[in-house]
Amino acid sequence: MSPSGEQNLLIGVIGGSGLYHLENLTFVKEVNPETPWGFPSSPITIATLPSGTPVAFLARHGRAHQINPSNVPSRANIAALKSLGVRAIVAFSAVGSLREEIKPGDFVVPNQVIDRTKSIRPVSFFEGTGVVAHATFGDPFSESLTKVVVPLVKKALVREGEKSIDVHENKCLVVMEGPQFSTRAESHMYRAWGGDLINMSTLPEAKLAREAELSYTLIATATDYDAWRVSETPVTVAEVVKTLRANADASRHVTVTILEDLHKAVAGGAGVEEGSMQFSIMTAKEH
Ligand code: ADE
Repeated sequence: MSPSGEQNLLIGVIGGSGLYHLENLTFVKEVNPETPWGFPSSPITIATLPSGTPVAFLARHGRAHQINPSNVPSRANIAALKSLGVRAIVAFSAVGSLREEIKPGDFVVPNQVIDRTKSIRPVSFFEGTGVVAHATFGDPFSESLTKVVVPLVKKALVREGEKSIDVHENKCLVVMEGPQFSTRAESHMYRAWGGDLINMSTLPEAKLAREAELSYTLIATATDYDAWRVSETPVTVAEVVKTLRANADASRHVTVTILEDLHKAVAGGAGVEEGSMQFSIMTAKEH
């Protein structure tokens, strides 16, 4: 039995812009755990797949999209999921595309991140504790979880008789502070740095998941071409929202389709992070 009271609750899903709930699952209960870092962005829904396997769902920006990316309580979100016994997180996020071949509507499972957030977001559970810890973050997403997720997402997006949605992998995500979108010059600079995608939400979430010894992978959905395309007007909210609804329907479909297999993989040891922080503490035992 996990601390949530749900047997076998291994997977937590964090929904991004447009993805505020899941469909076709059986509602079990809603929980709103208070953590030492406050309450999560929204109450967490616990629901079951047709097989009875439970999953937890949390809306990152709140259910009415009332939390700005800079103010997402990421420490509370990760701590709340951890307190329920979750071991692996599948996060969703709308992203801008920095590459021609990543079209609005495409899915992307990235493997790298460039941090362009500012120091206004609390980035560590160790802040203010008197303990100095440096988590290994060279591979910011769980490689073994990502290896399981990519083929599952590809399979889920093949629709009979329809053109399937493209799924890209091994891409680099730039996480910026916002809330304003990038200038054209910044957008070109991120491309020159090797960035393929851009959003405002994945950090510090992925860093905190690493500190909490939770495996974390991101399923990103492209909504726009940001500001780098010379012949086009730079991204607007209207453009993002236009693609968001279709992307959210596809994300809901992907989630319910992949969760059973993902749960089995995690139960079988994929993405195990327990113990990964063991050698990350620099502080001497007696200080
Ligand atoms: N989220 C969706 N599109 C974005 C963009 N172009 N820049 C930053 N975050 C985004």
